[in-house]
Amino acid sequence: AELPLEELIATLAVDVPDFPTPGVLFRDLTPVFADGAAFRRMVEGLAAPQQADPRAAAVAHADDGAAHDPGFDVVVGVEARGFLLAAAVALHAGVGVVPVRKAGKLPRERVSADYSLEYGTASIEMHTDSLRAGQRVLLVDDVLATGGTLGAALALVEELGAVVTAVSVVIELTELGGRARLAPHAVHSLWTT
Ligand code: PRP
Repeated sequence: AELPLEELIATLAVDVPDFPTPGVLFRDLTPVFADGAAFRRMVEGLAAPQQADPRAAAVAHADDGAAHDPGFDVVVGVEARGFLLAAAVALHAGVGVVPVRKAGKLPRERVSADYSLEYGTASIEMHTDSLRAGQRVLLVDDVLATGGTLGAALALVEELGAVVTAVSVVIELTELGGRARLAPHAVHSLWTT
C-alpha cells in the first residue's frame, strides 16, 4: 500500500543538526524532490490546499479538464527552494508562476519587504507589474519556520492588490509559530513537525 504523503516526506527528508548555524536543525528536502513519486504527490498536495486528500483533488482535476478552477489564478513562489515547487504546482494547476526574489535580482520596478529569518535578516522583492489587482494567489514555499519569509511575501502580494487565497508549504515547524504570524491566512502544510 502507498505510504501516507506525510510519512513519505518524513522518511525521505534528512535532518541535519547545527546547519547552517549551531542549534538549528535543518530539514533537507532535496531527497524528497529527487524522488519522482514523492515529488508528484507533493506537487498535487500543494496545489490542493482545500482538499484533505490530494489524490482526490488530482482525480477531480483530471475529470474537469481545462474547465477546472483550482481556486487561484497564479502561483507565487519564494526563492530559492520554493521555486522548485511553485513552477511544478503552477504547471499542474494550469496557471502561471511569479517569483518572489531575494533583493537585487529583479531588473525592473519592484516592491521590497524586509524580514527576519530563523537565522539572519533579509529582503525580498517582486516586480510591481507581476500581479494584477484582484488576482487570486496561491503562495508556495518549502518550509514554514518563523513565518518571516512568507509574511513578507504576503505583504508584497497584498501591496500589489492581489489576494492570497491559500498558503501551501511542505513542512511546517510548529514550534516556531509561523502559522500565527500568517493569520488570518490559513496554512496548508503537508508535514507538520
Ligand atoms: C528558508 C525556507 C523558507 C524560509 C523559512 O529559505 O526555504 O523560505 O527559510 O523560514 P521562516 O519561516 O523563518 O522565514 P532561505 O532563506 O534559507 O532561502 P533559500 O530557499 O534560498 O535557501
